[in-house]
Amino acid sequence: MAVITNIEDLRRIYQRRVPRMFYDYTESGSWSEQTFRDNTTDFAQIRLRQRIAVDMTGRTTESEMIGERVAMPVALAPVGLTGMQHADGEILAARAAEQFGVPYTLSTMSICSIEDVAENTTKPFWFQVYTLKDDDFMRRLFDRARAANCSAVVITVDLQVMGQRHKDLKNGLSAPPKLTATSVANMMTKVRWGLGMLGTKRRFFGNIVGHAKGVSDPSSLSSWIAEAFDPGLDWDRVGELMKMWGGKVILKGILDVEDARKAADLGADAIVVSNHGGRQLDGALSSVRTLENIVDAVGDRVEVHFDSGIRSGQDVLKALALGAKGCMIGRSYVYGLGAMGEAGVTKALEVIHKELDTSMALCGRRDVKTVDREILLVPEDFSGRWA
Ligand code: GLV
Repeated sequence: MAVITNIEDLRRIYQRRVPRMFYDYTESGSWSEQTFRDNTTDFAQIRLRQRIAVDMTGRTTESEMIGERVAMPVALAPVGLTGMQHADGEILAARAAEQFGVPYTLSTMSICSIEDVAENTTKPFWFQVYTLKDDDFMRRLFDRARAANCSAVVITVDLQVMGQRHKDLKNGLSAPPKLTATSVANMMTKVRWGLGMLGTKRRFFGNIVGHAKGVSDPSSLSSWIAEAFDPGLDWDRVGELMKMWGGKVILKGILDVEDARKAADLGADAIVVSNHGGRQLDGALSSVRTLENIVDAVGDRVEVHFDSGIRSGQDVLKALALGAKGCMIGRSYVYGLGAMGEAGVTKALEVIHKELDTSMALCGRRDVKTVDREILLVPEDFSGRWA
């Protein structure tokens, strides 16, 4: 196998090995995908300031996110359908994260259930929930997360209604995959993936099927999703859900200073500046353009994490320098998972760690916690002039 040196190498292998339907699910933004593209191209506009003849010995990328020690300030983001990218995908990704020493976030829309991931790992993970209408179901999800010893809940606050991704509709995305002539023909070419899937029983949405009323088979699941999300969500409801959980809360999906203030007022432990990887409001600003203003507004009251567009350790470094305390990666690790299972997730983390460590050193910093705005060269209007 060719030597893998960066995240793009993993993406290419992933594209070859995983059925089209699931690759497309990962590689899509909503509608015209403008925001999806901006998330990465805007990162490229920021430059790093090289410094020389600074002692670079004894470097460390260790830090903390919501009070938890992390080997580097990077967490695996919640990603739906991970167990369709590779058999038992959530368990493998959680194991790779725990080995590496970074947090793993399990999505409600996972294939492996909370209990299953807890049984197959040894450290607490984070659990992501959507803001659903059904209080009983929310309560049960929180009880299950508590029983599984999850150390924080990540509440996704930017998905009251769902952004349209054309490819998912055209592909008839579902779990297990819908068997049409096209999808079967495509899956037959993905032998490694298919053998993995034949070897596991985990092919349904493990947190939902058998737990949500009226959801016993996957076809009724899609109607459940359409009905279950809460278009009536308001900040009181967010507060209610936070109380219902009672433990550490990370609010994910904030892109506006006003919303960041409200989240801080509610006492969240952290917020995640995110546009859902460009999968929700097409035409929204890239996450990285909004980060600095949000940090300026609330950074002294709430921990600010960053998500959407990270494909390298240099991107992590830039987000940290703009004031984020940590970053979430989604696609970057899913590429690794689809390409090579657990070893691929580990590879993605190693790639990002090396890039972060080396680039930090070349900016003249030895400790990731000392990274600040001084190491950046940012175009003058990068975060402004969007009134
Ligand atoms: C779900 O949250 C998705 O973005 O597909």
